[in-house]
Amino acid sequence: MNTYATVVLAAGKGTRMRSTSPKVLHPLAGMPLLGYVLNAIEAIPSTDTFASLAATTTTSRPVVVLGHATAQVEATFGQRCLYAIQEEQLGTGHAVLAACPVVDELDPIPRTILVCYGDTPLISNDMLARVLVEHLARRATITFLTAHTEAPSDYGRVVRNAGGRVQAIVEVKRATEEQKRISEVNSGVYCFDRTWLWPALEALPRNAAGEYYLTDLIGIASSQGREIATVSGALEETIGINDRVQLAAAEQLLRRRILEHHMYAGVTIIDPSTTYIDAGVCIGSDTVILPGTMITGKTVIGSACRIGPATTIDQSTIGDRCVIRNSALEETTLEEGVSIGPFSHCRQGAYLARNVRMGNFAEVKNSYVGAETDMHHFSYLGDATLGEHVNIGAGAITCNYDGVRKNPTVIGDGAFIGSDTMLVAPVTVGEHAKTGAGSVVRHDVPPGAVVVGVPARVLRLRTPQPHPNDSSTTEGSKKE
Ligand code: UD1
Ligand code: CA
Repeated sequence: MNTYATVVLAAGKGTRMRSTSPKVLHPLAGMPLLGYVLNAIEAIPSTDTFASLAATTTTSRPVVVLGHATAQVEATFGQRCLYAIQEEQLGTGHAVLAACPVVDELDPIPRTILVCYGDTPLISNDMLARVLVEHLARRATITFLTAHTEAPSDYGRVVRNAGGRVQAIVEVKRATEEQKRISEVNSGVYCFDRTWLWPALEALPRNAAGEYYLTDLIGIASSQGREIATVSGALEETIGINDRVQLAAAEQLLRRRILEHHMYAGVTIIDPSTTYIDAGVCIGSDTVILPGTMITGKTVIGSACRIGPATTIDQSTIGDRCVIRNSALEETTLEEGVSIGPFSHCRQGAYLARNVRMGNFAEVKNSYVGAETDMHHFSYLGDATLGEHVNIGAGAITCNYDGVRKNPTVIGDGAFIGSDTMLVAPVTVGEHAKTGAGSVVRHDVPPGAVVVGVPARVLRLRTPQPHPNDSSTTEGSKKE
């Protein structure tokens, strides 16, 4: 049986980010950097590359090495990983050593240690699997991932001898001008034979920079004549995030990947350069995303929708065939066929049922709006529950806040709320009731009644309804 453990280094202060939050919690397309690395690690066993080994290989939860702000990272990732603490950040070699006691408690104790960095979010499961498979096949002491770049960079340079054998990794800070011109760089993914690694880390000398570099182990293994294997991968996958310029560069690469994934799955994206979609978003086929649109959080969008232009949607669920133009939605649910905008706002807890038409300059917060309801212009619904086929006239609003409490408004099926009506909550408007233009409704309106004025008074208790047999008979026209 092969056994491997993964150690993720995430204890560095991330000084170059100039941030109060730990580097690995900085979001990339809505997900923290470390989340990407953990996803890749967890998906190693399901890759095609790993298929031949899957039956004979076991692993455990990844061990994440943390330094400061440990509580924040642990609160974000919880039981997904095990944690080791590196009290003082004395370098990447020192960080792996800090993981040693946690790894040795694993049952069974792993034979191979896969090390990667928490700040390389674009690494793929397949790339990790390739390093692992190569390592096991070659029975190497160390196997590590390299990439090629001609551009100046802060990656460690891979030094080989004339015969092509790896001799060392030299960090840029300590590299000669000639070494700086080496195009093969260290991507920061390694497999080690554990029985060699632990004593080698214990013996690792502190270098001139006052740190213990993991990369110095390559030179040590080489001088011992140990087998060192390399796997070559795309630089793009191994981009390390040290500062916010690199964060933005990674965001751009990832964004393109996400957009391509949706486009291949049947989503039309008119202008990928102005469309921003987070990693956790799902979109149905035949939906069209127009320019200037940002879809974030765990948002789900149905099929055949038309979203944008200039629309932001966060943490929301959108049904099929919805049309949302120039609007902002947060924590909102739309059933199918809803249309919104231009220039409207759905805030947390907005629920718009089937075929609701919410036009321009409207706002809905923490409210249920029943199917087929219309609210076309300049209206506000807060803490309200509406039935079906309600009409909300231009400028009608729920006065839900009395300065102390948020109060509820209930509007029954088929009610007609006239233009500029103020519904002073708590208040209930019955089914098929009507409010006149400009009325200020302070008391409940019975079903079918018509109220007008300031404050609103009852004009008619029930709307005359033609009798099925006699057109001269009216129902409920009695005044009380
Ligand atoms: C490192 C490599 C470099 C490689 C590059 C790839 C070393 C010495 N250098 O450089 O060869 O090309 O990554 O991206 O390893 N960390 C700790 N504890 C520490 C120091 C760092 O946990 O004491 C963690 C950091 O949080 C980070 C990772 O290790 O996630 C890498 O450290 P960083 O300082 O970013 O190394 P680089 O300079 O990028
Ligand atoms: Ca780095």
